[in-house]
Amino acid sequence: MKSLIAILLIVFLYPLLAWVSSSNSLFEAFGPETPLMQVNASLGLAIPSHYVNRADPKKVRIGGQLISEGRADTPQGKSNYISRFYACTSCHNTVREEEDISKVDSELRLDYAIEHQLPYLQASTFWGIVNRVAWYNGDYIKKYGDLVIAANKSLEESIQLCAQECSQGRELEAWEMEAMLHYLATLELKVGDLALSKEEINQLNDGSASNQNKLNLIASKYLPRSPATFAEPPNDKNRGYGMKGNVERGKAIYELGCQHCHKEDGVSDLVLDDAKKTFKWLRNNISADSQNSIYEIIRHGTYAEYGHREYMPLYTQEKMSDQQVEDLRFYIQEMAY
Ligand code: HEC
Ligand code: HEC
Repeated sequence: MKSLIAILLIVFLYPLLAWVSSSNSLFEAFGPETPLMQVNASLGLAIPSHYVNRADPKKVRIGGQLISEGRADTPQGKSNYISRFYACTSCHNTVREEEDISKVDSELRLDYAIEHQLPYLQASTFWGIVNRVAWYNGDYIKKYGDLVIAANKSLEESIQLCAQECSQGRELEAWEMEAMLHYLATLELKVGDLALSKEEINQLNDGSASNQNKLNLIASKYLPRSPATFAEPPNDKNRGYGMKGNVERGKAIYELGCQHCHKEDGVSDLVLDDAKKTFKWLRNNISADSQNSIYEIIRHGTYAEYGHREYMPLYTQEKMSDQQVEDLRFYIQEMAY
């Protein structure tokens, strides 16, 4: 009888215990797929109100369509365009843009864009945007003034600001905002997206380490805000910024950057194609005192005007370094011959 009980125990109880303990440890350990938001919450940080915990696939589809096409297919048919001029993806990517997301480095961002053939754009990617804690940072206040103050503290406000000002469109309706937030939640950061070493993962999973240390560790592995520093054209445009440009990199900036918008049926009427004539025009304007100079247009962009709302956003230092402007210049000069 005793041995029967023992056998029963082994057959039934052991797998049960093993299952309980393994699911327990699965629950506690943070793996590569664990959302960063979940880790932060378990360490005592409040979950922001813009975050959608369980994204609804239907809303995700609609939100994604609003962002990439500017309107969505709904049961009532096609919705109205948010903007007649742009989709959000005219200026924002929706995927990772850098290998190391703990720092800003425009050269590494360009390397990554070349490797993955991504558009090289003025705005920050939506990937990981729900994990940021402030938006429209740094010098954007110079362009949009008081409008930025609310946007700086709220993802929803910055979406509304960008739908109306950056996109020259209209305010989003509640269902559109909701769908976008569902979509953006699917672009959240996971533990595996941070460059954590094995020891650092162990540290995160170490029950005796303090929550504050773990939070500090996480905060050092990604940027909770995208910095933005406005820059100026060089004092002497003939001389430029003074460094030698790299033609290959200039070509990549032209093709992945400028041509994203300046193409046939693009958001701009100005087509920057690969014809010698086009490069000659660009070259002849380099030192001009007008928006047709690459230095002026890159550093100041243009403003939307009544009757002509399409404008070009400026490139901050983070999105285009002085070196990269010179790379572009050297490419233009080479192609003009
Ligand atoms: C014409 C270009 C353009 C379009 C179109 C555009 N944006 Fe932006 N957006 C920008 C720029 C430039 C910034 C400046 C800050 C940054 O992204 O680094 C920005 C910033 C933002 C930010 C804050 C990002 C941060 O981390 O600081 C959000 C959120 C945003 N846009 C959402 C949207 C949404 C949603 C749409 C579509 C409805 C949209 N944008 C369309 C250019 C654009
Ligand atoms: C996000 C879209 C976008 C990107 C990227 C972009 N531009 Fe523009 N650009 C525009 C728009 C819109 C205008 C406004 C003129 C128009 O309506 O066509 C413009 C205007 C210009 C003008 C003419 C200024 C004028 O007033 O007509 C030049 C020159 C120019 N861009 C060069 C560039 C170069 C060089 C790059 C790459 C470094 C670039 N653009 C990247 C959208 C863009």
